[in-house]
Amino acid sequence: MTRSDQLTARLARVALGHFPTALEAAPRLSAEPGFPPVWVKREDQSGLALGGNKPRQLEFLMAAALAEGAQAVITTAAAQSNFCRATAAAGARLGVRVGLLLRGTGQEAVQGNLLLDRVFGAEIRFIPTQDPYDPRVTGWLDDFVADFRRRGLQTHVLHLPGHTGTLGAAAMVCTGEEMARQFAAQGIAPQAVFLAAGSGLTVAGLVLAFKALGLPTRVVGVSVQKPAAFIVPLIVERANAAADLLGLATRVSAADFDIDDRHIGAGYGVPSAESVAAIQVAGRSEGLVLDPVYSGKAFAGLLAQLREGRWRGPAPVVFFHSGGAPGLFANAALLTEALH
Ligand SMILES: Cc1ncc(COP(=O)(O)O)c(C=O)c1O
Repeated sequence: MTRSDQLTARLARVALGHFPTALEAAPRLSAEPGFPPVWVKREDQSGLALGGNKPRQLEFLMAAALAEGAQAVITTAAAQSNFCRATAAAGARLGVRVGLLLRGTGQEAVQGNLLLDRVFGAEIRFIPTQDPYDPRVTGWLDDFVADFRRRGLQTHVLHLPGHTGTLGAAAMVCTGEEMARQFAAQGIAPQAVFLAAGSGLTVAGLVLAFKALGLPTRVVGVSVQKPAAFIVPLIVERANAAADLLGLATRVSAADFDIDDRHIGAGYGVPSAESVAAIQVAGRSEGLVLDPVYSGKAFAGLLAQLREGRWRGPAPVVFFHSGGAPGLFANAALLTEALH
């Protein structure tokens, strides 16, 4: 953990991952005709339990939970959630019991993240919805919490689409600040950073950090779940709530970032032909491991915009690799058929 992070200095933090994560040039991608120099922020290599963008966020979320005396945390997301897998691992590391309320039937193959949730000893329950914003989720969370509390466990809820969103976005400001330091150290001024947008909290944190630091780099979130009309106002709200939490005067508006919602495909969690193709390009040009749910769709969005000629050199474009590797294995059968 580095405490050279000024913007998030007032937040409590526990060490869980390996930071800073690398910022690497991707020379073979950069050599594609018409492409600007491409760099990759290796947040997939953040250390805890196969990495990704969640370990850094959890350093802040778990610190806040521990400060309130939590002996258990409960969170909710999709059955193949990277956040849940990272929370389960963080709980194991910190001696905190973890309950996961997963969207699904319970008949899902025990593979990828779900397999790792089991390895890390999380208690798992399934809920009959596929919508993270389903209003019934709060009630199901309350029931789960009541069960933990009956067992005498001081229990804290991490609900990213709900009350935890502000701290979740503020935590990601730390990632943006780290990138700004790395850009300066490399002597580069990237024109854009591309990343997957699920809840949009990572986009919110990066946009806030770059704006607070006066960086001209455009943040382009490639939505993997919701249309831009839904997610843009949420990102603005989260970024500004995070600014308040961090004591920053900076304010973010919808004009400060892009959301590209053309790459969701058939829906959240459903691999698209385009994301499979993107997985191959990243794997075969740079040895990167992308997944078909998040980073594959984000990379598909990046490739599409680069091929459209939207970002021409000499200033680099950065792919923020947010991890998600377990999702690749959870979709092995489908991918085996599609890969060529
Ligand atoms: C691998 C991966 N990439 C990107 C994201 C998107 O992050 P956010 O929810 O902050 O938009 C997630 C979120 O679950 C993820 O697991």
